[in-house]
Amino acid sequence: MCGIVGYLGKSEAVPVLFDLLRRLEYRGYDSAGIAILNGSIQTSKAKGRVDNLISITPEIMGCTGIGHTRWATHGEPSSENAHPHCNCEGSIAVVHNGIIENYIELKDKLIASGHKFRSETDSEVLPHLIEEYYDGDLESSVRNALSHVRGSYAIAVVSTDEPDQIVIARKDSPLVIGLGNNEHFVASDVAAILKHTKDVIFMGDGEIGVINGGGVKVTTLGGGSVEKNIETIDWDPESAEKSGYEHFMLKEIFEQPAVIRETLSGRISSDGIDLDAALPNVRRIVILACGTSYHAGLFGRYVIERFARIPVDVEIASEFRYIDPIIDCGDLVIAITQSGETADTLAAIREAGSRGSQKLGVVNMLGSSITRECPCIQTRAGPEIGVAATKSFTSQLAVLLLIAIRLGSERRMITTAEMNDLAAGLRQISGNIQRVLNDAARTRECAKLFAGANQFMFMGRGANYPCALEGALKLKEISYIPAEGFAAGELKHGPLALIYEGIPVVAIATKDAVYEKMLGNIKEVKARGATVIGIANESDTEIERYVDHVLRVPDADPWIAPILSSVVLQLFAYYVAYYRDCEIDKPRNLAKSVTVE
Ligand code: G6P
Repeated sequence: MCGIVGYLGKSEAVPVLFDLLRRLEYRGYDSAGIAILNGSIQTSKAKGRVDNLISITPEIMGCTGIGHTRWATHGEPSSENAHPHCNCEGSIAVVHNGIIENYIELKDKLIASGHKFRSETDSEVLPHLIEEYYDGDLESSVRNALSHVRGSYAIAVVSTDEPDQIVIARKDSPLVIGLGNNEHFVASDVAAILKHTKDVIFMGDGEIGVINGGGVKVTTLGGGSVEKNIETIDWDPESAEKSGYEHFMLKEIFEQPAVIRETLSGRISSDGIDLDAALPNVRRIVILACGTSYHAGLFGRYVIERFARIPVDVEIASEFRYIDPIIDCGDLVIAITQSGETADTLAAIREAGSRGSQKLGVVNMLGSSITRECPCIQTRAGPEIGVAATKSFTSQLAVLLLIAIRLGSERRMITTAEMNDLAAGLRQISGNIQRVLNDAARTRECAKLFAGANQFMFMGRGANYPCALEGALKLKEISYIPAEGFAAGELKHGPLALIYEGIPVVAIATKDAVYEKMLGNIKEVKARGATVIGIANESDTEIERYVDHVLRVPDADPWIAPILSSVVLQLFAYYVAYYRDCEIDKPRNLAKSVTVE
């Protein structure tokens, strides 16, 4: 959940580290810090944002350094608990992303042998442990220290004894090295270093790397040699910039026409659907995911069952991994994850694999951990910096539709007419998203009217139900307004009790098989005083008689319409948060990638 960075080269390290940290801030923003090697180790740490750190950091010269932006797990956000952490002598500094599970046991032993701790973090055991095992060689001391550690880590370590060197290692937390012109960058993910270089080496689990003037050497923690490939990332560096938008979230919402075009590019032809990975013929599919990706999974269930007639279960990854799941080689487990690093999703797919199931990932981040676990289909959304997922969600929906069509055609469950309709709908989708965006001013005006609300309800049926959940989640995440999403058919089983005079209810009422039923549900909440914001098709002339406000989406196939409605809901959440003056890209207590349990 934290971000770690490093720099070794000919330039001053401090500005480079600040730039990398700013770009990684979406991984955590409770506190931040840097350590620079220049004879001694000079550190600067601050509670709060990277900008805070920048404002209090004195001039520190030096061309080698490491940095960290923190999302607190062990120990409150404070400058004492901020990384880098140092050993007793101040000759070794470490930044860490992950959790050291046996830190209490290690800390007790280290204290007993005289080490003095300054923070409440699990991470501080690392510099002391490296000091304890220090044998004059930083790499072997790190290797030794890590052999005593249980848990997950991506670390970067510097020592005054070896001034032109950074030692890095990873286990279950992401880490990438950027190769520049006589300079090297280290970061938790590629988006941070794109501006500096597109040539990268992804560190694998259980690997340790030494970066110095001579280049990069990677070995296994056990000492075995490793051949690493240099990969060139074809993402446009501009895609990780705000490019004039006030927030990354808004920029990413507006990128969706291009993103979905890219997601679909080359994948639909008269021969069928071409995907990056084979889809095995299975009896059952289990979709595993967290957060927004879980909502995409719920949509996946509707479309795969509808078009391929394969039973689909959708599980929250953190539940699945502990329920002793019934799963075997007749099942295909699909993990959906934007980051490819969500700890629970990775653990859940490993659990499924250990029980013999076949595995597939739907992922956005290039080179992320999930790509090493199983064959993956890329969503191709590009770097997503806003903590609230937007373009990654709609690209997941598009990929799930492609999976459903492909499975349906392989199993001869989908008719040619249905296939042609869906393919035609998908070809028009970018243009239709653009039309939704062209109407953003109307969504903005509507959001402004409700920015003062203190509760919201979102309802939908069928494939619009996952959208309702996602609409509520988006609003909660960035505006902090309690919002509940529910299946409209469940109204009478509980949610109706929450309806009172004036409560805003967002009803997704695009034309589909359950449209009439949705109108019935709208009437039920209206009769109890709710103010209803309906999301309806452009050609729907009836809806205005039922709702108080209408936000329109172009007419589209009912299985594609949820993508369009999702864009409206993202804009709505964005503008509500905007008028409430919220920190939209960095919502309170949340981080983009949850790499710890
Ligand atoms: C965090 C993010 C969410 C995301 C979820 C799952 O909670 O803030 O936006 O949906 O993790 O992440 P993943 O990368 O696995 O899709």
